[in-house]
Amino acid sequence: MAKTVVFLGPPGAGKGTQSSLLTERMSFIQLSTGDMLRDAVRNQTPLGIKAKSYMDQGKLVPDELIIELIEEKLESLPDRNIIFDGFPRTIKQAEALDSLLERKGRALDAVILFKIDDEEVIRRLSGRRVCPGCGAVYHVVYNPPKVDETCDRCATKVAQRDDDKEEVIRNRIEVYHSQTWPLVDYYGHKVVVVDASLDKESVYNKISSVL
Ligand code: AP5
Repeated sequence: MAKTVVFLGPPGAGKGTQSSLLTERMSFIQLSTGDMLRDAVRNQTPLGIKAKSYMDQGKLVPDELIIELIEEKLESLPDRNIIFDGFPRTIKQAEALDSLLERKGRALDAVILFKIDDEEVIRRLSGRRVCPGCGAVYHVVYNPPKVDETCDRCATKVAQRDDDKEEVIRNRIEVYHSQTWPLVDYYGHKVVVVDASLDKESVYNKISSVL
């Protein structure tokens, strides 16, 4: 049976990095609400126009918009292993996910909690660079592109995300502690804690052994 996994953790904990590895190596499909929202902003869709100011301030986009987005996405998805990356982030979103999965006849297998301290999050996010062409993620120190500032995969110049500025990062961390952390209790025994401060292959080994 296809697996369903939620990645829960602060901004910059490495959820996107690990989702990419699982997509490449274990044929998971990654559903990242952050990536979907950034696409919507780039394409100036009605959702993107509404979401932009929340994202720029490091606030959560309203639940109704996010739930609708995930609902639409799930309609067309094949029966494959799925990682929800950065969703749910509130109790209301978690309740909506429960009903969506039930409707689809799927069960939630595990919630991977990425554990990392706030100072390391700030180091990771302030050094993060992303490729506007293909979405590849780098870090100026931990994982730099091979050729200066240029994506290894598609040779586009890498850039800093608009919300990776220090004051916005601090808001995102605060929002995580106040609005998303309560999900740890909500999911209870389904939560598996992973030490996300390790290097990316060690984190991957731990997650893949759980899955
Ligand atoms: P989103 O894009 O989901 O951002 P996030 O949760 O803040 O997570 P990030 O993408 O910043 O970090 P990550 O954990 O994926 O880390 P990464 O792998 O890149 O959301 C953005 C915004 O959209 C939100 O603020 C909100 O406004 C809105 N939004 C999204 N979903 C929403 C929802 N459900 N409800 C409401 N609003 C929503 O790694 C970070 C850096 O560290 C990289 O440079 C990477 O190379 C490096 N790195 C990764 N792993 C390691 C490692 N093991 N060792 C060293 N470096 C590492």
